[in-house]
Amino acid sequence: MTYSMLTVKRISDLRRERAGLPSPVGLVPTMGYLHAGHLSLVEKAADECASVLVSIFVNPTQFGPQEDYGSYPRDIPKDLKLLKQLGVHLVWIPETGEMYPPGFQSWVEVDGLSRRLEGDMRPGHFKGVTTVVTKLFTAVQPDKAYFGQKDAQQAVIIKRLVLDLNLPVEIVICPIMREDDGLAMSSRNVYLNPDERIAATVLYRALIAAEEAYQHGENDAELLREIMLKIIHNEPLASVQYVSCANPDSLEEISGSFERALLSMAVKFGKTRLIDNLVIGN
Ligand code: PAJ
Repeated sequence: MTYSMLTVKRISDLRRERAGLPSPVGLVPTMGYLHAGHLSLVEKAADECASVLVSIFVNPTQFGPQEDYGSYPRDIPKDLKLLKQLGVHLVWIPETGEMYPPGFQSWVEVDGLSRRLEGDMRPGHFKGVTTVVTKLFTAVQPDKAYFGQKDAQQAVIIKRLVLDLNLPVEIVICPIMREDDGLAMSSRNVYLNPDERIAATVLYRALIAAEEAYQHGENDAELLREIMLKIIHNEPLASVQYVSCANPDSLEEISGSFERALLSMAVKFGKTRLIDNLVIGN
């Protein structure tokens, strides 16, 4: 079957093409350099929606001054090829100057949740995410939008954003896609040298060890954090930024026992910062 996928840049073109798409319209926001994790979101959107729209935008406002905005991997031709194979209808590649016009000063912020975990390490990061996601939602007006559990805190914050601002979009969270050895797929994995790539399995190993301890009856948050920390500390190339056992909704650290917990962590390998997480309990 021949089938055409349209790519647009300007918001006016996006609006015009979006208006002609059959409903429901599913949006998959991405920063590109697509891998099987992103594609699983696209496939889910294609399953559930009549039209699938993917945005590719490396959003400058969610990167800190010392972070990798300039070097973030980009490969638009390859991304477009992958998306075409999945039956995507419309790809929007916003222009930075139109997303952030000169004099830009309007922000959307989800207050408390944005300061925890990642927010503590990356001040302003989620303010950039929630602002750009609001702008993407406003321009596209999707019926559904797809996000990955890989960025667990981002998922919680986007759900809060939609609830608080009464945005008419249903948020769908998709499971984490992993490499065969457990490493969560990420555009940033390309930064790892061969030794770091092997060492990077420590995130998943630590999560699994904590899950196993929990399954064997260990239900103390502090002890689970210690189990994860010990495993990461045993990996010489890994430098831990945080290890958390938190309430999956409020993202507050748990002390003592719990019904459900979000185990999460950020670990650096050289300059590369990786995150991963696992939810345990009912
Ligand atoms: P990006 O890192 O490109 O990720 C786009 C989407 O893919 C996010 O919802 C993310 O959680 C999901 N994703 C990434 N790796 C995944 C994996 N291994 N398994 C499942 N899903 C995965 O997240 C962003 O971009 C940006 O912050 C964005 C939401 C686009 C706003 O700029």
